[in-house]
Amino acid sequence: MPKVIYQSPDGARTEIDAPVGATVRNLALANGVDGIVGECGGELMCASCHVYVDEQFLERLPPVQEEEDEMLESTACERLSNSRLSCQIKMTDELDGLLVRLPEEQL
Ligand code: FES
Repeated sequence: MPKVIYQSPDGARTEIDAPVGATVRNLALANGVDGIVGECGGELMCASCHVYVDEQFLERLPPVQEEEDEMLESTACERLSNSRLSCQIKMTDELDGLLVRLPEEQL
């Protein structure tokens, strides 16, 4: 089973076993990882599931679609080139070890 690693702004890391197909947002909420709110339930209506994806994994993710791109304009913390919405990242075997950094705030 692939793993996803969440890194808090203070550097603390939480590693979670991720069933293939689960989203990085849902895994965080289901496992009590602080730092992802995801208040719209993964419907691309909030941007409170913002994460910074480690550069080495960026190319393995599907490209940002138009709706995600628009929502990324309203993140609480600065949008960077590696910003993604975690509700749009579904785990695959290829993403094993995925490292996402959590922003200082989501709202
Ligand atoms: S949970 Fe709302 S956009 Fe991802």
